[in-house]
Amino acid sequence: MGFNYIDDILSCNGITVPDLADEFDTPLYLYDAESIEQRANAFRDAFNDVDSIQYALKANSNLSILKLIRSKGLGADVVSAGELALAIKAGFSPEEITFTGVGKRNDELAFAIEKQIGLIIAESKSEVALINDIAGADSRKPTVALRINPNIDAKTHKNISTGLHHNKFGMEENDLRELIGKRSEFKNIDLAGIHIHIGSQVSDSAPYIETAEYAAGLATELNRSETIIRIINLGGGLGVNYDKMLPGVDEYNHLTPEQLAKNILSIIEPTGCSLYFEPGRWIVAPSAILITRVSYIKTIGGNKFVITDAGMTDFMRPSLYQATHPIVPIINSDSPKEQVNIVGPICESTDSFAEDYLLPQVSEGALLAIMGVGAYGYSMSSNYNLHPRPAEVMIVNGKSRLIRKRETFDQMFEGMPDN
Ligand SMILES: Cc1ncc(COP(=O)(O)O)c(C=O)c1O
Repeated sequence: MGFNYIDDILSCNGITVPDLADEFDTPLYLYDAESIEQRANAFRDAFNDVDSIQYALKANSNLSILKLIRSKGLGADVVSAGELALAIKAGFSPEEITFTGVGKRNDELAFAIEKQIGLIIAESKSEVALINDIAGADSRKPTVALRINPNIDAKTHKNISTGLHHNKFGMEENDLRELIGKRSEFKNIDLAGIHIHIGSQVSDSAPYIETAEYAAGLATELNRSETIIRIINLGGGLGVNYDKMLPGVDEYNHLTPEQLAKNILSIIEPTGCSLYFEPGRWIVAPSAILITRVSYIKTIGGNKFVITDAGMTDFMRPSLYQATHPIVPIINSDSPKEQVNIVGPICESTDSFAEDYLLPQVSEGALLAIMGVGAYGYSMSSNYNLHPRPAEVMIVNGKSRLIRKRETFDQMFEGMPDN
């Protein structure tokens, strides 16, 4: 990670953060392009040419970041027509795009079919019938994979687990078998794959091995008399160790793509299927910090609150998933650490970045950095309480580049007639 202290001032590849805060104001997302490039390369290099690594846009869909990832040879995994339109705008070729998602609308499917994207994932019997109908009217034959809910525990936070039977994602194996059995009824689609995504922030190879063995077993069985399944898509979910994302530290993987490939490829290869992966978080999470200024410090009944100008609307993971991210002062000091609650300005008690956190003593006006916010950071931001979304800046070749302007009041109010 290109974030470290130089003479006690937090810097990103040699550019000092306080100068960027002065130039672009706070809250500010600051990205290191090099980190994204290295991690996209690492994922691509770990797998074979026949396999397809498709970056999950939902983790971060800034156009400059998408172009960077595309330039490294990855495809795209999208979950809406909006993401699909942006992926195409970023230059991903349609055949390298997969469309996943549990509740795609007719118009979204029609758009994907019209664009002739590489793969559509269907999550229910009704969706398969709908895709077949839409494709019939369009006279194109999209490739479709069926998403199974395998009831495999990803051993992650309950809100980001997706492969258990109480999760809404995918279909039962029985439904998949029924669909494969009557595939000749679906003349307008090429039913060619199985898809499983068990969850996000997976930190151990065991759930992946279990999933790969399940998928390979099923594909082998379904292909016994003729080849039906040509694609096995194992979703995304590779996790990162957020607690280690501190300035100057660059080892924060639980599991590398090389280790993942080593565990998985030998299971999938005998099936003869091509393997698809859809990583999001692993590629972009460590690439960014959220720079925020301390507005106020106060104590209530012995609890000290450090109130920042960034809130849950800018970075939602701590409020949504109780995620913990290191928070550091931008000017490093050896002042004693004290236990504080670091909270935002939003009118919600859940608007908290850290409780009982040991932070070196800071004053009002000080700058802090929330580390490891490149994934599910800006992409989950909102306008709740009508705070404009922050700006995004990326350091590219030692220079800062504004990759998204701070939102304006006019942009927030746009679309509401004034009468
Ligand atoms: C179907 C699917 N693929 C890929 C991903 C990306 O997951 P991650 O960012 O954890 O790699 C997700 C995340 O929710 C998903 O639902």
